[in-house]
Amino acid sequence: MTDVHPAWLPPEAFQAVGSRRVLVRADGPLAETVREEVARAGAQYGATNSGGLTDEGPADLVLTLSESEGADGYAISRRDGVTTVAGGDPAGLLYGFFHVVRLGEGAFEGDREIEHHRPAMRRRMLDHWDNIDVHPVMGQVERGYSGGSIFWEDGAPRPGLSRVRAYGRLLAATGINAVAINNVNVHATEARLLTDRLGEVAAIADELRPYGIRVHLSVNFASPMALGGLPTADPLDEDVRAWWAATTEHVYATIPDFGGYVVKADSEGQPGPFAYARTHADGANMLAEALAPHGGVVHWRAFVYNHRQDWRDRSTDRARAAYDHFAPLDGRFMDNAILQVKHGPMDFQTREPVSPVILAMRRTRLAVELQVTQEYTGQQRHVCYLAPMWSEILAFENVAGAGDLVAVSNVGADRFWTGHPLAQANLYAFGRLAWDPALDPATVLDEWMDMTFIRPGEPLRRALHAVMDGSWRTYERYTAPLGVGFMVRPGHHYGPDVDGYEYTPWGTYHFADRDGVGVDRTRATGTGFTGQYPQPWSDVYESLERCPDELLLFFHHVPYDHVLHSGSTVIQHIYDTHFAGAEEVAEMRAQWAKVGDLVAPDVHARVTELLDEQLRCAEEWRDQVNTYFFRKSGVPDERGRRIF
Ligand code: GCU
Repeated sequence: MTDVHPAWLPPEAFQAVGSRRVLVRADGPLAETVREEVARAGAQYGATNSGGLTDEGPADLVLTLSESEGADGYAISRRDGVTTVAGGDPAGLLYGFFHVVRLGEGAFEGDREIEHHRPAMRRRMLDHWDNIDVHPVMGQVERGYSGGSIFWEDGAPRPGLSRVRAYGRLLAATGINAVAINNVNVHATEARLLTDRLGEVAAIADELRPYGIRVHLSVNFASPMALGGLPTADPLDEDVRAWWAATTEHVYATIPDFGGYVVKADSEGQPGPFAYARTHADGANMLAEALAPHGGVVHWRAFVYNHRQDWRDRSTDRARAAYDHFAPLDGRFMDNAILQVKHGPMDFQTREPVSPVILAMRRTRLAVELQVTQEYTGQQRHVCYLAPMWSEILAFENVAGAGDLVAVSNVGADRFWTGHPLAQANLYAFGRLAWDPALDPATVLDEWMDMTFIRPGEPLRRALHAVMDGSWRTYERYTAPLGVGFMVRPGHHYGPDVDGYEYTPWGTYHFADRDGVGVDRTRATGTGFTGQYPQPWSDVYESLERCPDELLLFFHHVPYDHVLHSGSTVIQHIYDTHFAGAEEVAEMRAQWAKVGDLVAPDVHARVTELLDEQLRCAEEWRDQVNTYFFRKSGVPDERGRRIF
């Protein structure tokens, strides 16, 4: 696999460490990993390292342990020419080491006051939606835009799992410490990873363990029937409980540091406790009980809604579903049952309010789920740097206080890992924000480019910022307006189709007619969804005057001449943003064209090709959305631009 792109860990990123004398004063498997990293860098950049690893001679960098730093944490300081990293535990040592790598030469200059670093989130986790088998429509990775799975090929683990360790190394450098390896929609073949194919999970765990990453598994709620031959999967049935206990015990006998289960139940056709008139707390607690003796957790997903609704029925609101199901269960989940909630009430749209479930469940452990894979944000054909969206979400109320941050991975067997080379930045930024939600997205981007493009000069740095910093807002401008969402082609979700979901059972409507557009989710006249929020949000979202522009059509149905806070009417806003969005993509393309000789030719070529597609697609969005609303409303563009 020599031609796999090194992403943010090219050999050059280790030059500063590799040319220094480094002492590692710690033992155990993760310390061994740090030692190997140091030796690898030293072998590349200087002989001084190789002899200096264990003796107590003078060192430029000392990596040691100090209990006062806490789990995963570390302190970094520099005095009298010696940089010291003190890890709270071996994992902290590893994260501290990668901190030094990020700093490069900066880690070895001047004095440095002691800084303490510890992660905001206890668990920083990626969920892979990988399958063993290849689905005829979805491919092997559900919503994957980067080729096949890095774990499986041709129905079996990839030979040597050669990329998995490199993957773990990339993730550890961002602070990620958990990976669920298979799709939440657990099909027949993949269900068996829990039992007779468990060896495959163990082999993957062996590759990730040296980088401090625990493996988790998505399991099918009906496994006791499908795999255990029982007549039921009722969570209160004694035989079912015994089956899960025994199965889980076997998992831990095989993989002692196994992380736990991920469950999508009663959702989009997956089996769940509703079939037995049991609650989701009953279901989650059954698995939590099986996992508890081994220190494992269950991530129980809150993505439960009716996907067979009737568009004629205006009272059913998909946005309400998760709260209606789960808020009454607050306080009834065991300690090792973690409710995993998508960041918004719908489904990873470009713009959504924060899910009220996250604000409501004060007595339940929570994981907030983001989507690094760009299902609804350009499918890794469009540049869409998502860190600005995530930092807005994480800054809202108590979101950053959730114990776990989880995201659907964007990685596949593609040589750039993420299809679009610039989509690597999303993976990097996810890990960094899970560690520290307060990090500035532009600073994270600088970190990422400093390693990936090896401290680029100003022209390349400026161009990357110009292309990426605002790309999420650009994407928002040329797609569905003002938070209304969807308007994508049904099924694969790429490209515009304004009415694509309007009359479907999925509950994803915009209700545009000749007079206006938007979903009335108010208590006064609509579905009452605003009432699921605590104050002040309940009133802010309810109020036409106070609702933020960017979410207006998520909460309100308004006439086209409704005036936004920006001073523009809704219809003129739609025209203006769609023209602007497509123009911004043309500008991104022009910026990228200028740096052709500053970037590796393969990276430049791939990004150029994708920017061509992004521009084509943005223009298609612009023209379809503008034409649609011009035809519905009959209101001309006040600037007289071309609408079809
Ligand atoms: C979206 C996505 C599905 C996925 C689901 C989920 O609806 O389109 O492919 O299974 O989310 O998060 O479970």
